[in-house]
Amino acid sequence: MSMNPQTATSTTRDSSDPISTSARQVWTPLDAAELYGVENWGSGYFGVSDRGTLMAYPDAIPEAGIDLYDVALGLASREIGTPVIVRLPGVLQHRMQDLRRAFDDAIAALDYQAGYSCVYPIKVNQERHVCEAVRDFGAELGFGLEVGSKPELIAGLALTRGFDEMPLVCNGFKDAEYIETVVLAAKMGRNMLPVVEQAHELRLIRDAALAHDVRPGFGVRAKLAAPGIGRWAGSSGIRGKFGLTVGEILHAVEYLEEVDLLDGFRMLHCHVGSQIFDIRAVKYTVSELAHLYVELVRAGAPIEILDLGGGLGVDYDGSQSATDSSVNYTLDQYASDVVHRIKSVCDEAGVDHPTIMTESGRALVAHSSVLITDVIGSRTFRVEPDHDLVRRALGVDEPPQPLLDVHEAYERRHVGEDEMLEVYADAEHALSEAIHLFNLGYMDLRTRAACEELFWAVGSAALETYGDDLPESLSHLPDRLADLYFVNVSVFQSLLDSWGIDQVFPIMPIHRLDEEPMRRGILADITCDSDGRVDRFPGEGGHKTTLELHDVPPPGTDSGDREPYYLGIFLTGAYQETLGDLHNLLGDTNAVHVRRGSNGRWRIETVVEGETVRDVLSYVQFEPEQMRRHLRHDVEAAIEADRITPSEGASLRRFLDEGLQGYTYLE
Ligand SMILES: Cc1ncc(COP(=O)(O)O)c(C=O)c1O
Repeated sequence: MSMNPQTATSTTRDSSDPISTSARQVWTPLDAAELYGVENWGSGYFGVSDRGTLMAYPDAIPEAGIDLYDVALGLASREIGTPVIVRLPGVLQHRMQDLRRAFDDAIAALDYQAGYSCVYPIKVNQERHVCEAVRDFGAELGFGLEVGSKPELIAGLALTRGFDEMPLVCNGFKDAEYIETVVLAAKMGRNMLPVVEQAHELRLIRDAALAHDVRPGFGVRAKLAAPGIGRWAGSSGIRGKFGLTVGEILHAVEYLEEVDLLDGFRMLHCHVGSQIFDIRAVKYTVSELAHLYVELVRAGAPIEILDLGGGLGVDYDGSQSATDSSVNYTLDQYASDVVHRIKSVCDEAGVDHPTIMTESGRALVAHSSVLITDVIGSRTFRVEPDHDLVRRALGVDEPPQPLLDVHEAYERRHVGEDEMLEVYADAEHALSEAIHLFNLGYMDLRTRAACEELFWAVGSAALETYGDDLPESLSHLPDRLADLYFVNVSVFQSLLDSWGIDQVFPIMPIHRLDEEPMRRGILADITCDSDGRVDRFPGEGGHKTTLELHDVPPPGTDSGDREPYYLGIFLTGAYQETLGDLHNLLGDTNAVHVRRGSNGRWRIETVVEGETVRDVLSYVQFEPEQMRRHLRHDVEAAIEADRITPSEGASLRRFLDEGLQGYTYLE
């Protein structure tokens, strides 16, 4: 049974309402799983337990789960506060194994004569613990790493220490120092694969080869004509930022022959954009790259590896469609199409099959992080106006006409479907007249407030009247009447792509799933920025603009009196952690690595503490020690002037000290 969100909004503003009580009796956790589309976006890694909590299944099997609500409570009792990133290394490992399996299956099924490897681009999530996990799991699978800048190169070298065989693909803009470091690391025995992205980098490679007497292997990134797709379409095509055009590649081959380095041309590379949502774009790109490969082999380039870059997408909204937050293919289809295309082009040309490499980042790490946060309160519109306020507003000598009109609409709010549109239109018109009068100074605050309250009540009645069959002209109403749920998080720090590129992330409560969520809301974060909100959620046919949620007390309710209401924000492992910024000085969140122990219980493997106020202040050049000195000085002056007592001064100093050591989020 799926919940009718419209009914939920309109019928049950009051939890004592008999309709909501009866609805709740038939609601089961399965309904919650369906409502939030867990199966669609969860890829088998998430599900709902019988007791109404959200489970993570690191091995994609329901028999071995981790109860995320249990984890949230366990973290709270260890004083690890929200927001907290719960990383699930088991999910990461399973994703990596699945990628290996998908390509191995395709290679075996199609009798492909070479292998597959993936290099993880560390920019997708550079957190050391994540990279180390990828490296450790990857070493068993024949995978490697990819870096795209000098700092990432240094991180990559540190990560692959002791893993000499592990391929380290080096992309990005390069200067002589970058190339020299790569060449020397190769000389030391590391498996370095610098990728020439700009024509002049070939000269840098030649210079380093001469200076250090080595014959380095390298790749060349091709600028394909294949159009990229989606948000990152600009990564490819002739106007793309990186890569050599076909003409430049031909010149490069001539140049390499001239300087006797052609035998180093080991890899042909491309990257047409992240989150490729349409499998046709993958096929098109691979065909073009494969044809380029056979032509270059014929021209004498000893290329062994075809690197297709990133792009393997994630179905964030679970719609399995060719839209920005989804993909219209499975992992197996991706692998099979890639292998099939390369094989057919090579076979036709009579050229050896190359090793296939991808730089899949998002698809490896997205599922393995869940951001858990809690709701600090909600603001809702009342179904019933404040009757006392309305009575007082109407009780004056000559109540203004808009108030009388909206009140009349309110009185008629149960007219039934035929007349409701008219009643709502009257109320809407009266409200706009009221605001106009107020803005001109002809209406007092109380009257305006009464008009608004009456209007919201009429709106709620309209929702209730039409239920699922909301007329087109009222389609804006559910959003307009949606509740605001305040969540202890910064969108700019933890969910940047939701703000920056309208990326949809699955979001849902991780408990109370055996209870029908009777409200619909949007999420507002704790930054002082009106953009700090989330109002796109996975929904039927793409996304919906409000989320079904449970009742919570209003903000300001004493924390001792309220049960936490935890929300999970899923598929956040890729790009969100390090792209985030310090808006309002809300810093890095806590992160924990959680695994399922052999006894079936979850355990914390690693805790990475979030930033303190002291940390973030120092990033913007505030000096906590100086602040402490200044405060002490001011406190002493105030005590001397009898403005505060010594113990009040001590409290102030304690507040500063504790504040500096504290988490940047609400505690
Ligand atoms: C060169 C290169 N390789 C790989 C990737 C990772 O792509 P994805 O996360 O889509 O797999 C990117 C990301 O844009 C990239 O620029």
